[in-house]
Amino acid sequence: MDFDVSVIGLGRVGLPLALSFADAGLRVLGVDKDSDRLERIRAGRMPFQEPGTDALLERVQAAGRFDVSDRGGDAARAQSIVVTVGTPTLSHIEIDMRDIRSVLDDLMPHLQPEHLVVLRSTVAPGTTEFVAGYLEKGRGLRVGEEVFVAHVPERIAAARFLEEIATLPCIIGGVGEESGERAARLFEALGAPIVQTTPVQAELAKIWANILRYATFALPNLLMMDCERYGANVFDVIELINRDYPRGGIAMPGMTAGTCLRKDFAFSEERSTAPGMLLAVSRVNEGVPNFLVDGMRRRLGGGNLRNRKVAVLGLAFKRDTDDERDSLSHKLIRLLERELADVAVHDPHTPTPTAEFEEAMTGADVVVVATNHSAYSTPECLERIRSLAHPDCLVVDPWNAFGTAQVFAYTSELAALDPTA
Ligand SMILES: NC(=O)c1ccc[n+]([C@@H]2O[C@H](COP(=O)([O-])OP(=O)(O)OC[C@H]3O[C@@H](n4cnc5c(N)ncnc54)[C@H](O)[C@@H]3O)[C@@H](O)[C@H]2O)c1
Repeated sequence: MDFDVSVIGLGRVGLPLALSFADAGLRVLGVDKDSDRLERIRAGRMPFQEPGTDALLERVQAAGRFDVSDRGGDAARAQSIVVTVGTPTLSHIEIDMRDIRSVLDDLMPHLQPEHLVVLRSTVAPGTTEFVAGYLEKGRGLRVGEEVFVAHVPERIAAARFLEEIATLPCIIGGVGEESGERAARLFEALGAPIVQTTPVQAELAKIWANILRYATFALPNLLMMDCERYGANVFDVIELINRDYPRGGIAMPGMTAGTCLRKDFAFSEERSTAPGMLLAVSRVNEGVPNFLVDGMRRRLGGGNLRNRKVAVLGLAFKRDTDDERDSLSHKLIRLLERELADVAVHDPHTPTPTAEFEEAMTGADVVVVATNHSAYSTPECLERIRSLAHPDCLVVDPWNAFGTAQVFAYTSELAALDPTA
């Protein structure tokens, strides 16, 4: 074998992982079907932002320990094969397995005894056993004895990859003991503590970690909607809940989304015998853009947003990242466009081109902080908005980025509340 490990799917999970294996001294082959992405990587350029990875890519390429290929079957040139392709959900509340199946179909004719196939993608419970069965059925090789299959879920948060890869406990669910041991030998190279379990427990632990976060953020979002109904201030209520109370700890509201949180709950719901609770959680989080648009309409004279300039700050789903996949900012913009508002957008990080800050703000009737980027989370930013926007501009800030503790407030009201004033 001319490589120690191959990584199939050089996305936000696969590429930093492949680079980390190479940095740990392994010979790594990265496989992806997207030839533009591969060309970029070959030229030494990261296709997305992830702190520390530009230098890492340069280092492992210079060391000759990282190569790439667009042929799926090439992955079998390494004894260990790690699958990191995307696993979206279908609108049927069901995992979309197409990319995983296409990877397995590419690998099938090349699979040899001793190969280890690791599923790193987030999957619905039962998927690792399906993968093992699919390979056994297709090739007649016994999993756990001749070839080996394990689920080793990725639990790292965007923008923290290199910090967390060496420290977060690495959960391994092997199909049979030997699969687990072989996967542990591979991941030990990265330095994090290894925790062995069964495949389905590894699958459940991964998706429920995300379900926990998704539900945790739905509560303050629902409270924000309740407060609007009762004329209360959500930030005051949160402060009352949490202040010196040993059983407090409610999170802050915001636009809760992103590819993982928005879809992973559906992997639990797809076979649920008591469906409902997590769909309700999703409905609350998905309802935030609509709640904000309704709040604007209620406050603006005439009750509608037609021909009003609405400036949206932030396209990314997460603070200080360039990841706008499944961001609720896009949903907010679509809803505003359906109100016939004139929408202007600014984001300093995302690949989608946006307006300059000054251009987006000038004359705005409404400014919405859709992403709590640190560039927006300052009193100076609010001051710039005040000087550029319409004098009676409505500021919508569900994150409390400006520290004024108002979801909806006019710039004139905020002047009195400015924490620096
Ligand atoms: N992004 C995150 O922060 C994160 C965190 C934890 C877990 N996950 C999970 O990890 C998995 C990957 O997520 P991602 O964000 O890296 O996705 P991504 O879309 O950024 O990357 C997937 C890559 O796989 C490639 N690909 C798709 N089908 C292929 C095939 N048949 N052969 C070769 N390459 C193929 C695509 O071209 C793409 O480059 C998903 O299951 C996701 O839920 C993601």
